[in-house]
Amino acid sequence: MRILLASPIDTEALAILQQRHDVVSCIGASQEQLRERIRDREILIFRSGVEISGELMAEAPGLRLLIRAGSGLDNIDLDYLRTHGLELQRIPQPGARAVAELAFGLMLALSRQILVADRLLREGVWAKHRLTGHLLTSKQLGIVGLGNIGSLLANMGLAWNMRVTGCVEHPSPERAAAFASQGIQLADLDTVLASADYLSVCVPLKDSTCKLIGREELAMLKPGSYVLNMARGGIIDEAALSEVLRQGSLAGAALDVHQVEGGGAISPLADLPNVVLTPHIGAMTIDSQREIGRRIIGIVDTFAVSGSTPDG
Ligand code: MLT
Repeated sequence: MRILLASPIDTEALAILQQRHDVVSCIGASQEQLRERIRDREILIFRSGVEISGELMAEAPGLRLLIRAGSGLDNIDLDYLRTHGLELQRIPQPGARAVAELAFGLMLALSRQILVADRLLREGVWAKHRLTGHLLTSKQLGIVGLGNIGSLLANMGLAWNMRVTGCVEHPSPERAAAFASQGIQLADLDTVLASADYLSVCVPLKDSTCKLIGREELAMLKPGSYVLNMARGGIIDEAALSEVLRQGSLAGAALDVHQVEGGGAISPLADLPNVVLTPHIGAMTIDSQREIGRRIIGIVDTFAVSGSTPDG
């Protein structure tokens, strides 16, 4: 198959793809370079950080399959895909556990001020008594979106003896009963906001979730609560979050995803000591990327032999 690789993937998987197929790598390329290189390609492999526009896909008359090496679809023109009969394969599960684990790590980092403690100690400050934190145990974990990541995070919270409440886009009594049987209480967004000690946003970015957590929603949070965005920049309004944190009503925040991503971008929250910022590393574990790599090979090889993908 003629493949265009627009984002990095696991190196072992890449080596196998290169042995078996014709792979052009275009990582870090401009849109103009991508348009140039996609022309004779049949398969496009990509992750976040690359805009897959209709104009780009229109340059490749032989393009048949797009492989999203992960979950989010906010960087791709889905209307173009639908109207042009292009096939899309996502690989959301392997990264979901990694994102949920990072979320949990960030909750611990916030509660115990781990980054502040580390910085102070390196500066020679023994701040033991200033660094009294909170237990996660018995606290309320509020999760906006109980999909792959949200459900895993919920289960981690339950294993830690947290109380877990979450909301979903399409609630129903059946779904509420299914979640209740796992120990997760389904509620509406306002209830989740008002009850959470730790609020984690785990929904995809789309029109209905852009700035879902704005000034009004942040004002509904309990004083002393923590906010996490592990999903996509722009779901929490960063300017509003910055204001609320500066007013001192929230205890802290952690963001793995940002309204502006990429080198050189400085978050409006960067000067706040009670904020932990990571550069969209949620899915970046060797295990997850290796598994995503394996699945990419499976999808491409099946497509090469049968002209269809493992699912479809
Ligand atoms: C995803 O949507 O899978 C994650 O954000 C990871 C990524 O693509 O960088």
